[in-house]
Amino acid sequence: MTDLINRQYYLASRPVGKPDASHVPYRDVAVSEPAPGEVVLRNLYISLDPAIRGWMGDDPNYIEPIALGNAVRSSVLGRVVASNSPDFAPGDVAMTMGAWERYTTVPAAALNKLDESAGIPLSLFLGVLGPTGLTAYFGLLDVGRPKAGETVLVSAAAGAVGSVVGQIAKMRGCRVVGMAGSDDKCRWLRDVLGFDAVINYKTCGDYGAAIRGACPAGVDVYFDNVGGEILDATLLCLNKFARVAVCGWISTYNVPDAPGPKNLWQLVAESVTLQGFTVLDYLERFGEGIAQLAQWVMAGDISYREEIVDGLDNVLPTFLRLFDGSNQGKLIIRLPED
Ligand SMILES: NC(=O)c1ccc[n+]([C@@H]2O[C@H](COP(=O)([O-])OP(=O)(O)OC[C@H]3O[C@@H](n4cnc5c(N)ncnc54)[C@H](OP(=O)(O)O)[C@@H]3O)[C@@H](O)[C@H]2O)c1
Repeated sequence: MTDLINRQYYLASRPVGKPDASHVPYRDVAVSEPAPGEVVLRNLYISLDPAIRGWMGDDPNYIEPIALGNAVRSSVLGRVVASNSPDFAPGDVAMTMGAWERYTTVPAAALNKLDESAGIPLSLFLGVLGPTGLTAYFGLLDVGRPKAGETVLVSAAAGAVGSVVGQIAKMRGCRVVGMAGSDDKCRWLRDVLGFDAVINYKTCGDYGAAIRGACPAGVDVYFDNVGGEILDATLLCLNKFARVAVCGWISTYNVPDAPGPKNLWQLVAESVTLQGFTVLDYLERFGEGIAQLAQWVMAGDISYREEIVDGLDNVLPTFLRLFDGSNQGKLIIRLPED
């Protein structure tokens, strides 16, 4: 093992605003033999998720901040190259919470073995058949609780989570309206995914007027991926007993001291339920979610986009694309097998 070198991108200091190479430099370290019970993965795919930006800070979060000096935490999928556990053999493929690094060493109990023989492209287990698909599935159905005929508004609708939310809501018989940041993304939502209406929030002008125009019967479920001014405007467009599923607030992640929502009084005025959630709340139901998502994907009922970028050294600039909207769907770094 000692001839294997692990390149790691690690957190040297906590960014204020967008992280750059001074916050996330790299180092090359030798890979150690796995201790009893441990397994070494050679990573093939690294998932880039907006939540990682939160873990770079030290505010309370649903998992602890990344410690200074540690490699940047990320979901990874890789092939076993060394195992000191009877449960894994070299060649097995598995997923785990790893890091922005070439090799990840973890206890076998932290690994989720995948079956390559099923012929499913492995990257899908980080996206539509993994955490992002599950976030959409449980967040919409359990937190948003849409009913046929209701209007569902989704922000960051062309993204990994949002695009799946909208398609599930359509299958539930809802009127689905998506907000996205380019005409191309809006066209894809309407013409390919079958959204009923779309709003390009970068060109629409007044958010409230645009939402009222696209949702003439008001909003019954708002799946909130962005927070900020779009949330504030939507609060004024909610129907009686509407549900707001708070999935993420990406518009605030790189904004120090971002102002909070101003229109929360609408929760009282319209008897609204606003509920945050994380996909980890549904760990015990992941099997159900993955089975349903796989069935929909195989039947062609759910389309997805993934953008796969080659090379670990592209990890930070690629991650930053989540925050300027230049990613087209689930964003993943691919590393060569050898
Ligand atoms: N609660 C959970 O368990 C959970 C799990 C996964 C993800 N999430 C959250 O879900 C949201 C989407 O994540 P994702 O992985 O699916 O990423 P994604 O939507 O594929 O990519 C992020 C998108 O956010 C949009 N965006 C970026 N900055 C924005 C801003 N200032 N205002 C409005 N939109 C902005 C961009 O799309 P446009 O081009 O449309 O601007 C960008 O493409 C994030 O808030 C994330 O934190 C939550």
